[in-house]
Amino acid sequence: MLANYKILTVTHKSTNLKTIGDFIIKAADASALKSRLEAIKSQFQLDELLYLPTCNRVMYLFTTSQPVDERFTASFFQHINPNLPAATFNHIDEIVDTLEGSAALEHLLDVAASVDSLVIGERQILRQLREAFEQCWGWGLTGNFVRLAYQQAVAAAKAVYSNTRIGEKPVSIVSLAIQKLLKAKLNKNARILLIGAGQTNQLVAKFLLKHAFTNVVVFNRSLGKAKELAEMLDGESFPLDRLPLHKGGFDCLIVCTGATDSIITPELYAALLQGDSRRKVVIDLSVPHNVAEAVVENNNIDYIEIEGLRHMAQANLSFREQEVEQAKEILNQYLQAFPPLLKQRQLELAMNKVPAEIKAVKEKAINEVFRKEVEMLDGQSRELMEKMMAYMEKKCIGIPMRVAREAVLVGE
Ligand SMILES: NC(=O)c1ccc[n+]([C@@H]2O[C@H](COP(=O)([O-])OP(=O)(O)OC[C@H]3O[C@@H](n4cnc5c(N)ncnc54)[C@H](OP(=O)(O)O)[C@@H]3O)[C@@H](O)[C@H]2O)c1
Repeated sequence: MLANYKILTVTHKSTNLKTIGDFIIKAADASALKSRLEAIKSQFQLDELLYLPTCNRVMYLFTTSQPVDERFTASFFQHINPNLPAATFNHIDEIVDTLEGSAALEHLLDVAASVDSLVIGERQILRQLREAFEQCWGWGLTGNFVRLAYQQAVAAAKAVYSNTRIGEKPVSIVSLAIQKLLKAKLNKNARILLIGAGQTNQLVAKFLLKHAFTNVVVFNRSLGKAKELAEMLDGESFPLDRLPLHKGGFDCLIVCTGATDSIITPELYAALLQGDSRRKVVIDLSVPHNVAEAVVENNNIDYIEIEGLRHMAQANLSFREQEVEQAKEILNQYLQAFPPLLKQRQLELAMNKVPAEIKAVKEKAINEVFRKEVEMLDGQSRELMEKMMAYMEKKCIGIPMRVAREAVLVGE
């Protein structure tokens, strides 16, 4: 069964973050995403499927007994993005990592423990993994086997976070972006437009508060979350569809949403400028980017985006490299412990049938095989027989489970 775990993934290690955007599922909302994932699961005959898009990877973890070869991979991603650029498609085997069995599990553990992250030790990945799992589990896409691997990954990651210094002095993508923003030396009352109010921009808002920026307007698809952020920053809030009507201009635009298409189009950007031609700071932390390329190319902009922050993250690596070694040792222990867990789980699933089958044997004995003899029994004898049968039934159910468990332990 371990061999049935498969991962197709595109990460910051194999390509740039912009290209990762070509491998994610474009969906307008959660229900569209659910439908697309269901279609993928059925089209490719996957038993279970977990979809994890983050700012520096997209991962498809699934279980299937079919081989995942180059043909499978090409057809998989053509299905996900029929408009995959030819230049990308022709190098798909270099861009996509295909992992199977123990290697797939090892990768999942590495991802959860953030040793594979762009910014090593960034703990947000554990939250993202949890949310992805809960979503796919809630939608019935994952089952017991992905759950077992997920639980092992979470346990391993927690052990790494508490037994190494990998999470110390955390430097997130957001803090790196803010460091760059501060270098632009904006006034504390610079007009900042914050687009999106998800986890990432909540962190951005905390930094804006910490650095005492006083003039922030928040726009978000749902107004409630925008309001919460605006209250924290003592600013104003509006629904996202009001953005084209914003007449107050801006000095800095910070965009980070889960939208899979550009939100800041050239037309919208021109409208937001309100004729102001001075240099602006534009931060786009979304993957895929939410600021259209044409906006960046044709305007007077200090542009801060994730790819550029990757270099800054490298500096962070040296401190954590030793920790990664130690983390790997811990992860290896969890990796080694997984096959017996898996066997046990398989046995438990197989044993699920045992109680019903034993009960059926008992019923058949009383009602068919020994029916005549049973009918001849007096009340007391019949009561004793039923008690004995119930006792036997209970004991018999436990025996195969115990024997199987012992067999797993001996086999280790
Ligand atoms: N978390 C990280 O560590 C991290 C770091 C860097 C970059 N990123 C990238 O940042 C982006 C957001 O991540 P997150 O963790 O902040 O996500 P999140 O907590 O799930 O929040 C998503 C945000 O995007 C909005 N949104 C989602 N779909 C939208 C659409 N179709 N149109 C307009 N708004 C939409 C949501 O609005 P509602 O409130 O209305 O739902 C919410 O404000 C992603 O591209 C991610 O890859 C994440």
